[in-house]
Amino acid sequence: MKIISTPLELKDELKHINKSIGFIPTMGALHEGHLELIKNARKGNDIVVVSIFVNPTQFLQDEDLDRYPRRDEADKKICELAGVDILFFPSSSDIYGDDEIKIEAPNVRGYILEGATRPGHFSGVLTIVMKLLNIVNPTRAYFGKKDAQQLHLISLMVQQYFMSVEIVPIDTIRDSDGLAQSSRNIYLSAQERQEALKIPSSLYEAAKMVSSGTIDVKKIRSKMLDILNPLEISYVEILNHNFEIIQEVEMKNTIILVEVISGETRLLDNIWL
Ligand code: PAJ
Repeated sequence: MKIISTPLELKDELKHINKSIGFIPTMGALHEGHLELIKNARKGNDIVVVSIFVNPTQFLQDEDLDRYPRRDEADKKICELAGVDILFFPSSSDIYGDDEIKIEAPNVRGYILEGATRPGHFSGVLTIVMKLLNIVNPTRAYFGKKDAQQLHLISLMVQQYFMSVEIVPIDTIRDSDGLAQSSRNIYLSAQERQEALKIPSSLYEAAKMVSSGTIDVKKIRSKMLDILNPLEISYVEILNHNFEIIQEVEMKNTIILVEVISGETRLLDNIWL
């Protein structure tokens, strides 16, 4: 595995490669969710590139940028064992310099849900993903369905900017008790982690209601709020795959999304119906 730290070096390395490239952008502290993306990229491409970059522009001022978990050495080993060919580990100054041009997230879809609790977050995400895709120029890029709104906005950007990369969505990987894996789970105390299991429970219950014929969004939402009580909820929303409000669940075109704040930790989860 090659470790490369500057955009120019990486572009140079990939310039003459006439093979398919699978790319997984990450912020490190790798877990099984990231590994699932890497495995899929390994299966579908000749070359696999992973980036690790804790992107400052997607954190708001009072957020956890400084304490975001960093496990560089362990991450390198994980990538090596997973058969990654190139690990891209850039510095913030190499990526941003003193840039002034930024991709702006769309007014509505970029500023609802997670975009409402973290205004500007998705502009930072789209900007870094645009930069990384331009550096790597991959055939396919892999993103988790766990970050559904991020995946949706990146897909829109790729479509609207006529980019040629294929965006591949990957299902959420969970711990055996159902909690979605996340680099931020390590912030949780044992008790917070136990309470957080209400999140997958509420999603499973919603799916059960739908499969037994309840499609009224209000009823499903209210049942979920009961289950999540007394957690601090940022949102529980039921939307179509285009992130628009619906009154009734439509099979193959509905996402149920939850965000809970546990202590200082933001926990996101969702289920695609
Ligand atoms: P990060 O949180 O490190 O996640 C990197 C990728 O892993 C994202 O596509 C995310 O959706 C996916 N992922 C995280 N947890 C997952 C799980 N439990 N199952 C499956 N996939 C999972 O998302 C980011 O970084 C950043 O915003 C980034 C896109 C790298 C831009 O900075």
